[in-house]
Amino acid sequence: MIAPSILSADFARLADELAAIEGSDWVHVDVMDNHFVPNLTLGLPVVQSLLKATDIPVDCHLMISDPDRWAVGYAEAGAYNVTVHVEAATDPIAIARDLRAAGARAGLSIKPDTPVEPYLEVLREYDTLLVMSVEPGFGGQSFIEHVLDKVRTIRGLVDTGHLNLLVEIDGGINATTIERAAEAGVDCFVAGSAVYGAADPTKAITALRAQARA
Ligand code: DX5
Ligand code: ZN
Repeated sequence: MIAPSILSADFARLADELAAIEGSDWVHVDVMDNHFVPNLTLGLPVVQSLLKATDIPVDCHLMISDPDRWAVGYAEAGAYNVTVHVEAATDPIAIARDLRAAGARAGLSIKPDTPVEPYLEVLREYDTLLVMSVEPGFGGQSFIEHVLDKVRTIRGLVDTGHLNLLVEIDGGINATTIERAAEAGVDCFVAGSAVYGAADPTKAITALRAQARA
C-alpha cells in the first residue's frame, strides 16, 4: 500500500492535490502542533474539509501533545486511520478504544529512537503500527536505516500470530529505500516528497508500488 503525504503538496490547492493521487491506497495527513514537533501544519477543520473532498481513506498522523484529548475528534470526523505517538500519549490503550469506538482504525507511532518492545501489550489494542524512519516534523529528510530492525521484530510477531497489525513506515521513502523497507516487512509506505516532488504523482505511486514488490 502507498499513502502519499500531503505535507509535500501545495496547501493552497489541496483539492487538486488530492485528485492528483487518485488510486492511492490512503492519503496521509500530518497534523503538527508546534509543541510535540517543531513545526505547525493543520488541524481538525482542514481534515474535515479534506474528508469532504476525497474518497481516498484518510490516514491522520497526529504529531501533537495530549492526543488523549484530541485524537478521537479525527475519528468522529470520519478519518479511516488515526495514529497517535506513544511518546505523547498518557493512556494509549484508552485512546485506541476511543478511536475504534468512533469507527476508525487505531494507529500507534514510534519515533526512530523509541524501542517497540515496551509496547507489545499496548499494541494488542491497535490496528496499525507507524514506524517513523525520520525524526517527525518535516518532509524531505533522509531515511534512518536502523528502524528496519523494529520492523523485522514486529513483522515476526505478526507472522506468527502474536500481533494483528498493519505495519506502516513514514519518512525518507523513495525508489531506493522502499525496497529495503518492503523486504523488512512493511505493509504501507508513506511517501511525501517522492510523490509530490515528482512531475507525475500518479506515475510515482505506480513506480513505488512496483519497487515495493520487486
Ligand atoms: C514527517 C511526516 C511525514 C512526511 C514524510 O514528520 O510524518 O509524513 O510527510 O515526508 P517524506 O516522504 O518526504 O520523507
Ligand atoms: Zn507522517
